[in-house]
Amino acid sequence: MTDSLMHRIDVQALLDKAAGLDTDTGDRRLKQIIRRVLADAFRTIEEFGVTPTEFWRAVDYVTRLGQSNEAGLLVAGLGLEHFLDILMDEEERKAGLQGGTPRTIEGPLWLAGAPLERGEVRLDQDPESDAETIVMDGQVRDPDGNPIPGAIVDVWHANTKGGYSFFDSSQSAWNLRRRIETDRDGRYRFRSIMPAGYGCPPEGTTQALLDRIGRHGQRPAHIHFFVEAPGYRKLTTQINIAGDKYLHEDFAFATRDELIVEARREADPEAIARHGLNAPFSTLTFDFTLNREADHLPDAVVLREHATAA
Ligand code: DHB
Ligand code: FE
Repeated sequence: MTDSLMHRIDVQALLDKAAGLDTDTGDRRLKQIIRRVLADAFRTIEEFGVTPTEFWRAVDYVTRLGQSNEAGLLVAGLGLEHFLDILMDEEERKAGLQGGTPRTIEGPLWLAGAPLERGEVRLDQDPESDAETIVMDGQVRDPDGNPIPGAIVDVWHANTKGGYSFFDSSQSAWNLRRRIETDRDGRYRFRSIMPAGYGCPPEGTTQALLDRIGRHGQRPAHIHFFVEAPGYRKLTTQINIAGDKYLHEDFAFATRDELIVEARREADPEAIARHGLNAPFSTLTFDFTLNREADHLPDAVVLREHATAA
């Protein structure tokens, strides 16, 4: 567009001034970022002929997005959180790091301070009549395949309705959330219930936008993990359960081939009895490989506002 208003001196001066670039105070880098974001918005409004009515609808949308606490959901749904993973993967690759369990998005539903336990840990506290029991185990290893004892596996997942404790007030505190310390062989083990996939709140602001662009807001059944041990890079990841309808259609783009886990159905009466159960259950196994920490690598610990349990 050669006759774009973006070329005009007064528009360029407006951008500079709005971003604070005509002053010496403030953060230089932030000013440049603000200028870029503003210029992209100006250009978008001009190129698409966004009307003032449409513009104010968008401002109202952002207001409601914040009021409904769904900003963290929307950025995942629009692929921004996954893009941060792509960037971090690439930075690590350029720094010579390879291998290790792949990262994938944290999502907006972690809660700090889950109970720390050892041995076979029980995650499910709230009775759910239609829930299938799962038993999950695995090992945390270093890049040479040696076990890491004393690693912390922080696990959180949804119930059979796709809801997460704390955010879903019908669940008890810390339901389906624990921190598990690995044993001397680097192993963790827990019993829980098979999670359902997650769906964005149907009447929410994120789903409203997804509807407008012809997208669903569903995630496949998954289990979240932070895995940490001194001297190793913190791993933020999830496993996705094989066979889910949305396995390769995750609205938040978190599925990675290396993170797909088969749930093995166990119907053998002897195995059922051995686990103290009275119905068939499923077993899942997943081993984590942590990379060693090194000064030249980008920080794997992401600081982000989190809900805290009262
Ligand atoms: C998102 C991630 C989740 O893990 C989840 O359960 C729900 C939403 C998200 O990234 O938007
Ligand atoms: Fe989730």
